Amino acid sequence: MLVLGIESSCDETGLALYDTKRGLLAHALHSQIALHADYGGVVPELASRDHIRRLVPLLREVLRQGKIALPEVDAVACTQGPGLAGALLVGCAFAEGLAVSLGKPVLPVHHLEGHLLSPLLAADAPEFPFIALLVSGGHTQLMAVAGVGQYELLGETLDDAAGEAFDKTAKLLGLGYPGGSALSQLAETGRTGVFDMPRPMLHSGDFNFSFAGLKTAVLTQVRKAGEAMDDVFKANLARAFQDALVEVLTRKSFAALKASGMRRLVVAGGVGANRQLRQSLNAAAARKNCRVYYPALEFCTDNGAMIAFAGAMRLQAGATPRPAGVFAARPRWPLSELIKVAGASCSRS
Ligand code: KG4
Ligand code: ZN
Repeated sequence: MLVLGIESSCDETGLALYDTKRGLLAHALHSQIALHADYGGVVPELASRDHIRRLVPLLREVLRQGKIALPEVDAVACTQGPGLAGALLVGCAFAEGLAVSLGKPVLPVHHLEGHLLSPLLAADAPEFPFIALLVSGGHTQLMAVAGVGQYELLGETLDDAAGEAFDKTAKLLGLGYPGGSALSQLAETGRTGVFDMPRPMLHSGDFNFSFAGLKTAVLTQVRKAGEAMDDVFKANLARAFQDALVEVLTRKSFAALKASGMRRLVVAGGVGANRQLRQSLNAAAARKNCRVYYPALEFCTDNGAMIAFAGAMRLQAGATPRPAGVFAARPRWPLSELIKVAGASCSRS
């Protein structure tokens, strides 16, 4: 089966072709970062309009890369949610129209399931079951994953997501949008231990997170420093923020592994690209005889490959694609609706 995947939930337009026998044949991406940079965040209306502009050229690009003629596509997978309503509608309308014209069915994909399964695109993919740490701009979740569609939510952030905390902190330090990557580069030049940051909910006895306090702690230091905030100060503060966030993510992830008796940790979402987080998780894994799996860096942030892949995995797991022609973007689609596994496979002592 050949699946065309379409991602348009936020500020990236991504298309890809995934074949259940031959693997990933092609993928193409357009990032809108430059478009939104001047506004300090994503402007939904501009995002929707740009998706409209990019979809057809990107479709042509993946067909060319994969040497595929459009009628060879067996099903169209598209991100149905969660995300920005207008942006989702553009991708969904495009997918439905394409599928109607081809007489092919549609596979509605949950954006987070795309992230969750993206590490399985790698050549050295993890086997099920595993613990997944999903750290994106909108979500921070720990999940026990028994198979495709078998997800148990163990814990999640009670306020800001990890990526959101990175972006807001980056803004406080004048690093532009989205600042996650810039903040992490700055942090690498900073010195550990200059500022004392809280480790929110580290000892909460569950698998939930809270990152809003970290951002506030940074704000307090920025206000205190006022005009005296120089580059070294910023680098040390960025370092303190990143040290705290990485420690909490690492300790909670390994607590979930321990409680579940599993040895495989899969990291997905944009913050999974963070070098210090990867170093910290890898070091803990080496100590505890576990293994951590990551998607390729290009598939950490939003992309079409993970959507084509999740659609194809759903098909292989027996999902029935639906006939095309329904316009059903779901901006607030909770992942819990996909969760088949009930009960706790994991409890925290
Ligand atoms: O998964 P993603 O592309 O989008 C959502 O679905 O939310 O993640 C984007 C988030 C942004 O908040 C961005 O700042 C963050 O991932 N990010 C990073 C890094 N690269 C991207 N955060 C920390 N370190 C990075 N290297
Ligand atoms: Zn995402």
